[in-house]
Amino acid sequence: MLTVILALLLKMTSITNQPSNLEAQLEALQQEARGAIAAADTLERLEELRVGYLGKKGQLSALLRSMGQLSAEERPKIGAIANTVKEALQSDLERQRTTLQAAQIQAQLEAETLDVTMPGVYRPLGRVHPLNSTIDRVLNIFVGLGYSVAEGPEMETDYYNFEALNFLPDHPARDMQDTLYLSDGNLLRTHTSTVQIRYMEDNDPPIRIAVPGRVYRRDTVDATHSAVFHQVEILAVDEGLTFTDLKGTIKVFLQEIFGDVPIRFRASYFPFTEPSAEVDVQWKGRWLEVMGCGMVDPNVLKAVGYDPEIYTGFAAGMGVERIAMVLHQIDDIRRLYTSDLRFLQQF
Ligand code: DAH
Repeated sequence: MLTVILALLLKMTSITNQPSNLEAQLEALQQEARGAIAAADTLERLEELRVGYLGKKGQLSALLRSMGQLSAEERPKIGAIANTVKEALQSDLERQRTTLQAAQIQAQLEAETLDVTMPGVYRPLGRVHPLNSTIDRVLNIFVGLGYSVAEGPEMETDYYNFEALNFLPDHPARDMQDTLYLSDGNLLRTHTSTVQIRYMEDNDPPIRIAVPGRVYRRDTVDATHSAVFHQVEILAVDEGLTFTDLKGTIKVFLQEIFGDVPIRFRASYFPFTEPSAEVDVQWKGRWLEVMGCGMVDPNVLKAVGYDPEIYTGFAAGMGVERIAMVLHQIDDIRRLYTSDLRFLQQF
């Protein structure tokens, strides 16, 4: 439409379409266009200008259309001028585009710059509870010695907690004073030794397991007692295992966890081991009992169908709280259960 009107206008004024006039118009167009291009401040605006001046329906094409009225000598001259104008405008457009693009990238870079001097955001980090880290340390040492980790249920039957472990029917540990019985006749395991039986029932020798777990006793809670606490149980069964293997294993373990401290074995009694011993470490000038252990009683092996003439084994059980308290100089077992952040943040 615009072009038609333009063309009409040009026709009407054809009398003025003398070469010099057209030349002047080209000159004016160039001047105007260069000014507009230099002033364009966005790439969109620049594209508008390109279409408006150099596009098929743009102002330059419109002017050139009126060249038909020129004489044959004049035409190439004006044509050459028009070409120069076209080239000048093209190179202006190109230069302005480069400038605008560079500015755009610069602006983007500035907007996305990170200020590394800004103060950071505090993100609270959780940590491993001292009981869990103690269990992890104990298990790591035994895994390093070739043991695998096993687990068992916390609700148990009398059979797994006592009978299969060679507790006689009238053994005092079965007393209501020590054991938490459930109304259905089951009980909460009083030790992780239950898993010795469960594991041996399901597996053949050789066996080497470390068993972490929660245990329950009808204890009055004080600085050194808790009704719920944690143990790690150790069991090895193979042909030809002797008390020497037990002692060597325990010694390596204790040195690994406590460092090079004096240790001693004291004769003791447990229904499921024979002979039995308790192990003490010397810690800050005092002997501290850290675990019970012994050679698996032949009656226990028989209970799971192992032949005690072929297989022997050793076992040990330790209290995790006791070890954690010794390692970290914790004076009250209750601190391990109350989730006081001021306490826990120390580890
Ligand atoms: N079950 C014992 C307790 O809870 C600890 C124990 C002693 C476990 C001797 C053993 C062992 O495996 O051989 O006091």
